Amino acid sequence: MENTFAFIIHPIQIKRDVERKFPLLGKILTERQINFFSRFFPPLYLSEMRGIVSAHTGKEVRGWLIAAPYTPPTMLALPVEAVYKKIVACGHMAESLGAKLLGLGAFTSVVGDAGRTIADRLEIPVTTGDSYTIAVAVEALTDAGRVMGHDIAHSTVAVVGATGAIGKTCAEIIARTAGELILVGRREDALHAVAERCVGPGPVRVSTDMHAIYPADLILTVTSAVHAVIEPQHLKPGAVVCDVARPRDVSKQVAAMRDDVLVIEGGMIDVPGPVDFGFDFGFPPGKAYACMAETIALALEGRFEDYTIGKDISAAQADEIAAIAKRHGFKLAGFRSFERAVTDQSIAEVRSRAEVNRRGWSPA
Ligand SMILES: NC(=O)c1ccc[n+]([C@@H]2O[C@H](COP(=O)([O-])OP(=O)(O)OC[C@H]3O[C@@H](n4cnc5c(N)ncnc54)[C@H](OP(=O)(O)O)[C@@H]3O)[C@@H](O)[C@H]2O)c1
Repeated sequence: MENTFAFIIHPIQIKRDVERKFPLLGKILTERQINFFSRFFPPLYLSEMRGIVSAHTGKEVRGWLIAAPYTPPTMLALPVEAVYKKIVACGHMAESLGAKLLGLGAFTSVVGDAGRTIADRLEIPVTTGDSYTIAVAVEALTDAGRVMGHDIAHSTVAVVGATGAIGKTCAEIIARTAGELILVGRREDALHAVAERCVGPGPVRVSTDMHAIYPADLILTVTSAVHAVIEPQHLKPGAVVCDVARPRDVSKQVAAMRDDVLVIEGGMIDVPGPVDFGFDFGFPPGKAYACMAETIALALEGRFEDYTIGKDISAAQADEIAAIAKRHGFKLAGFRSFERAVTDQSIAEVRSRAEVNRRGWSPA
């Protein structure tokens, strides 16, 4: 029997993403209108994905992309039950297509209890993909730090959104090696609880003030804020930011004003095989988000179970899915920054500008 999966995506860069499926509507409607009308749209079948082949077993899996028409502001504004209903409807579409596992992309995994209710209401198992998102985010941050001259063992590392499902486990894994760790969030008591789980060689500090990230060499940011939370003044020259959040946490102003920092996206993954996703969701061909890659890796492994659901994800689970994915041939696909590939030359330029700007820099 064939191994199959389905994955749910939704509009994030609202006009542009709607335009990918409905060119005319995306052009003529405003974001406000799209947010409003999206409430009344049914789930959308986007494509069949083919050519995904395990590097380990040579086995192929087939999958389907399904769109939940809600946008992030709509998902946050509506009662959670209304959002569950729409995601469950997407799940029923996945079941009728023959999927044996359902992955919840971006905000469909953030709302409510992070997949638990959805899993209870569907016949097929569900995963949010967050375990692999965690593993890949930490790997990307560490690698990007290395190319920028920051060895994590001697670096100050900040995690923003450190009380979230993804943030707290990223913090725990980073603590194993970081020189120093700063946890930033909105609730001090919750930050202290996360800090207690962070065991490693360096000290751990917590803060509810975004300016606390200013001394950090490496920053992993993963809030569920619908607007950017990291602005140019928060970053020191030479800082590396891995932005896992969708929508982004790092403001576009940073790209415009700070050519002395490196901002990378949270984890674009090379999927094994001559992959055709059948739909352009904004990545180069054959590359997927880590959460999507987790769903695919589980399908290749034949692990049809509720793998990552809920807000408590163990570091051991992130380690396990990283090992499964590696075995089947998934790997980090280089760095991207504000939708562009980061080249060796652009890294060299950022490094040399940071060096110059550091001369006049003093901690805030
Ligand atoms: N790149 C990928 O492959 C991928 C995969 C999955 C998820 N994601 C993204 O990861 C992000 C987080 O997901 P999650 O499941 O960890 O969410 P979560 O469990 O809801 O945690 C969200 C965190 O963000 C904080 N937060 C929310 N609004 C904020 C604001 N306005 N300002 C500052 N902090 C704020 C929350 O603080 P409190 O604890 O105080 O509420 C919490 O720490 C989302 O953007 C999601 O789309 C990306």
